[in-house]
Amino acid sequence: MPNVKPTAISKPLIAVLPGDGIGREIIPQAVAVLRALELDVVIEEAPVGGAGLDAKGDPLPPETLDLAMRADAVLFGAVGGPEYDHWPRTKRAGSGLLRLRRELGLFANLRPARLFPTLVDSSPLKPQLLDGLDLLIVRELMGDAYFGEPRGELAGSQPRRFVNTISYDETEIRRIAHVAFVAARRRRRRLVSVDKANVLETMAFWRDIVEDVARDYPDVEFSHLFVDAAAMALIKRPAQFDVILTGNMFGDILSDATAALVGSIGLMPSASFGSGNKGLYEPIHGSAPDIAGRGVANPIGAILSAAMMLRLSLNRSHEADRIESAVNCVLENGLRTPDIATPATTVVGTARMGEAIVNALSVGARAADIRFAGSPKSQPTYEGGNTR
Ligand code: IPM
Ligand code: MG
Repeated sequence: MPNVKPTAISKPLIAVLPGDGIGREIIPQAVAVLRALELDVVIEEAPVGGAGLDAKGDPLPPETLDLAMRADAVLFGAVGGPEYDHWPRTKRAGSGLLRLRRELGLFANLRPARLFPTLVDSSPLKPQLLDGLDLLIVRELMGDAYFGEPRGELAGSQPRRFVNTISYDETEIRRIAHVAFVAARRRRRRLVSVDKANVLETMAFWRDIVEDVARDYPDVEFSHLFVDAAAMALIKRPAQFDVILTGNMFGDILSDATAALVGSIGLMPSASFGSGNKGLYEPIHGSAPDIAGRGVANPIGAILSAAMMLRLSLNRSHEADRIESAVNCVLENGLRTPDIATPATTVVGTARMGEAIVNALSVGARAADIRFAGSPKSQPTYEGGNTR
């Protein structure tokens, strides 16, 4: 035998960064779901945001960044809270997340919004407007006013003046546009790019570049909308959208509006990518100081983020389908956290919801059981979801 050392096949590493507020309540539920799947993965946890400030005086401690760099995927909760607001701006809890996005080169943020049919009554819109609602926001994540320079106080200005800079270069626009067109090809092949080209030069440039990229995807139906019109259309006719491509700031705003349509921001997962398969997965809701510590936060956005992680970074689509089906079954079974409660449903807290989803996994909810708005309403297939 030649003296060749066997190559160690390393298990995928998942970095878990719960952060602050309800991040600390919902992420353990997502981790419980991952553990219940008995995957051959290593899960390591580290503090970020306020938790990083408490532990190391840094919202993104070097050890945490190092773990995130080494990991195949990052599961992120939320950062920030009033108890951390006294820290100087560069050490604010939220800056931990922004630095992490930048350090990992995560320029593409995918925010899917689908309506679980059983949650039609949790949405503020009339049911007929919700039929077929299934869209994807592709938000640019490393440019725009979030990172543009100059920023901050203009030295010596009287009265005091602060500036932020909306800026995009061509490379940044092209790469996010390609992500969005490729995503559209895997969906219903419709893409709308949202900008403010009528007022802002940066956005007129955005429009030109996206139009140029669109020429590579003649099979995708492509259009533009100004952001104000897009905001209105999202509320009036949300089902017409397939993929929405937009910049960092508009994407932040439109994704919260979209979250209201599907019933609650507590349901919305997201995935962020750079150039490889490594992703950062986070619910979009933030740390929610108003409900933090009460055990009532909805863990579904975090659990669906874990499902996206399995599908997109760990090549485990089957398990991702299982998680989504389990969530659907539990909802069909009438279990609700307070944010999505409607009459005649059973209101439970974060832990009970998480446990019910784990239970539904173990009884084997089938992928075929999940149907989103627009398809015939499925029958509950799992009877044990709210008993434990
Ligand atoms: C989001 C959040 C973040 C953002 C904050 C917490 C920095 O609102 O992910 O939508 O604005 O990007
Ligand atoms: Mg936001």
